[in-house]
Amino acid sequence: MKSHVSDMGGPSFEVACIAHAFANKLSDPSALDVGSGDGRNCTYLAELGFDVTAIEEDSKLSEILIANAKARELAIEIYNGDLQDFVPSKIFDVVLFLGILHFLPRSLLKPLLHQFQNCTSGGGVHIITISHSEFDDSASDFLKLQGHINSADRELIRSSYSSWSGLAYERYVKFDCHNNGIVDRHPIEKFVFQKGKFPSMEMRVSEVELVDSQSGRALLDCFSPTMLTKHRYNEICEQYGTPDFQACAKPVEGQYSLLGKEPHNQSIAFWGRTKCYFEGEILVGLARYDSEVFFSDFSIN
Ligand SMILES: C[S@@+](CC[C@H](N)C(=O)[O-])C[C@H]1O[C@@H](n2cnc3c(N)ncnc32)[C@H](O)[C@@H]1O
Repeated sequence: MKSHVSDMGGPSFEVACIAHAFANKLSDPSALDVGSGDGRNCTYLAELGFDVTAIEEDSKLSEILIANAKARELAIEIYNGDLQDFVPSKIFDVVLFLGILHFLPRSLLKPLLHQFQNCTSGGGVHIITISHSEFDDSASDFLKLQGHINSADRELIRSSYSSWSGLAYERYVKFDCHNNGIVDRHPIEKFVFQKGKFPSMEMRVSEVELVDSQSGRALLDCFSPTMLTKHRYNEICEQYGTPDFQACAKPVEGQYSLLGKEPHNQSIAFWGRTKCYFEGEILVGLARYDSEVFFSDFSIN
């Protein structure tokens, strides 16, 4: 799985996780990438066998996407135009709104999302990111400068998906370095929703491996979370400082079903610095170090 997931230019982490689950379960999965850019996510989905449609209004980016798709012999249907003029003619299993909603006037968002919800299959998934200004003033200045001040906010997104299941929520700051050397901060919130009401994605960790990512040396020779107690974790941190962890977690079999059919058993992997969450002494969750991930509960603190 690692080879498919890249922080720079590869597909989003959630896209990779969700895509594998769908590709394994459905014979002919379909996806719509709204504001696809040059296609880091939609080419990945097409390679996995998804029937992919991409919407992108920028002609240059659409041309790059067409060239990429051609070079990789991928049949991606590309709509080069404004997403507001796109008329869906089929039903999609996965719809991506990554880095796109903050370009739109706030008043349009609910009706627009509703329209895309209507062309999503039961059990289908929407993956959404929005920019927000919560982190600090410089972030909110950045949003203003970019004209993103009308961004969708968390409540608008959540209320638009109140009849869907929330699978995951994450917020973090993404740093981009452009050709001119200027580093931009992008404060991001990410949501994953599934159409229909399903048991929440209960990510009890069933398997864990912690490795020092510098040396590759195993820090913990255990594959059962019950062996990684808070006490043991603190001991490791004391011994090695706060180490870079490589961790791998699996949902407990039968705990949740991504497609509302069979229990889903996809591994979720994290690289780099990883936070461990404990309930009492018991490990209950993992997250990338600089972000917050809620797997078992969609409530936002
Ligand atoms: C920040 S980029 C994100 C690209 C891609 N989703 C990704 O995650 O790499 C936003 C993209 O949305 C496109 N876009 C913005 N407004 C649009 C609109 N109204 N209709 C179609 N595409 C739009 C932009 O041209 C740009 O390529």
